[in-house]
Amino acid sequence: MDINELLKKENLNRDEIVYLLGLSDEKEINLLLERADEVRRIYCGDEVHLRGIIDFSNYCEQDCLYCGLRKSNKKLPRYRMTPDEVVEVAHKIINKGIFTIVLQSGEDGYYDTDQIAYIIYSIKQKADVAITLSLGERDFEEYRTWKIAGADRYLIKHETANPKLYAAFHENQKLNERLEHIRFLKEIGYQVGSGNMIGLPNQTLEDIADDILLCKEYDLDMAAFGPFIPAPDTPWENKKAGDVVLTLKTMAVARIVLKDAHIPATTALATLDEDGRIKGLKAGANVVMPDFTPSPYREKYQIYADRRCVNDNPDYCRSCLQLQIESIGRKVSSSRGDSFKLLSHK
Ligand code: 5AD
Repeated sequence: MDINELLKKENLNRDEIVYLLGLSDEKEINLLLERADEVRRIYCGDEVHLRGIIDFSNYCEQDCLYCGLRKSNKKLPRYRMTPDEVVEVAHKIINKGIFTIVLQSGEDGYYDTDQIAYIIYSIKQKADVAITLSLGERDFEEYRTWKIAGADRYLIKHETANPKLYAAFHENQKLNERLEHIRFLKEIGYQVGSGNMIGLPNQTLEDIADDILLCKEYDLDMAAFGPFIPAPDTPWENKKAGDVVLTLKTMAVARIVLKDAHIPATTALATLDEDGRIKGLKAGANVVMPDFTPSPYREKYQIYADRRCVNDNPDYCRSCLQLQIESIGRKVSSSRGDSFKLLSHK
C-alpha cells in the first residue's frame, strides 16, 4: 500500500487501519503522526482542553485482572473523600481556570444516587463548568438523576472491543452490557467518552482496529487510547507494559478516523514516557487530564504503578502543563471544551 495515498483517504477500512497500526518504518510512522496532527488542527484547532480529575474513592466492587483497584487487592489502602471535600477540591480547580471537572472513582456503591447528585449540584451552583462522571457501571435510573442534577458527560471505557478478551479480563462483566450502558448514556444526552487499553495480553492489531471502529460506530464524543501498565498486587503484575509507539500510532489513526472526537494524551502514556504528553499532543490528541486529587489520597489511587506526577503538588499542575502546551505552539483553552459533535449539531 502506498502510505501517502492511504493517508489522504477520507475513510479507512479495517484492513487499512491494521496496516497503519503495523507500520515499522520510522519515516512512515512520522508521516502518519504528521497527518494526524493536521487532521487535529483542521477539526479541533490548536486549543488544548484541560480536564481536572478528582479521584474521590479507590474502593471498587469489580475485580478486573489488570487494575490495581480491584477488590481482591487487599494490599491497597483504601480511602473515600466526603462529598464536601470533593466540592471543595472542585472549587479549587475552577479557580485555577479549568472548566471541566471529572469526578472519578472505583465502582463504589457507598456513594448513593443522592450523594453523587449533591456533589454535582453543589459544584454547578458555583460556576458554569462541565461535569464528567467516571464511576463505572451504575443503574440506568441513576444516570438519569445525575443528568438532571447537572452532569454533562460520562466516561466509561470499553477497554477492548474483543468480547472474548473482555470476558476473560472481567470476571463479572460482559462487553455487551458495557455497550448497553454507552448507548443509554448517549440516548439520554450525555456526551460520552470511551476507549481502550493497548498492550493487553493476547490483543492483536485487529482488536485495536476494532477499538477505533467501535468509537466511530458509537459516534463517541471522546475516545481515549492508553497503554496498559502492570499494577502491583494484581494477577498481571509481571506482564509487559503496552508499547509507546503503538499507542501513538493508535491515537494517530484514531484521529484520522474519528476526526472531531476529543482525544486525550493519557496519563498512562506520560507514565511510560517522560515526553508522553507532548508526543501524544503531536499525534492527534487535543485534551490533557491532570489529577487534582489532594494528598494523602492521590498516591493511593493506584490503578497502575508509578503514575506520572503522582508525587507532585497539584497546585503547580496548571502552570506546568500550560508551559508544556505553549512550548509546542498550542494554547490552553478557556472554554468548557464541549463535544465538537454537540456544537456542530446546534
Ligand atoms: N494500566 C492502564 N490503564 C489501566 N486502567 C486500569 N488498570 C490499568 C492498567 N493496569 C484504566 C482502565 C480503566 C480505568 C479505571 O483505568 O481503562 O477503565
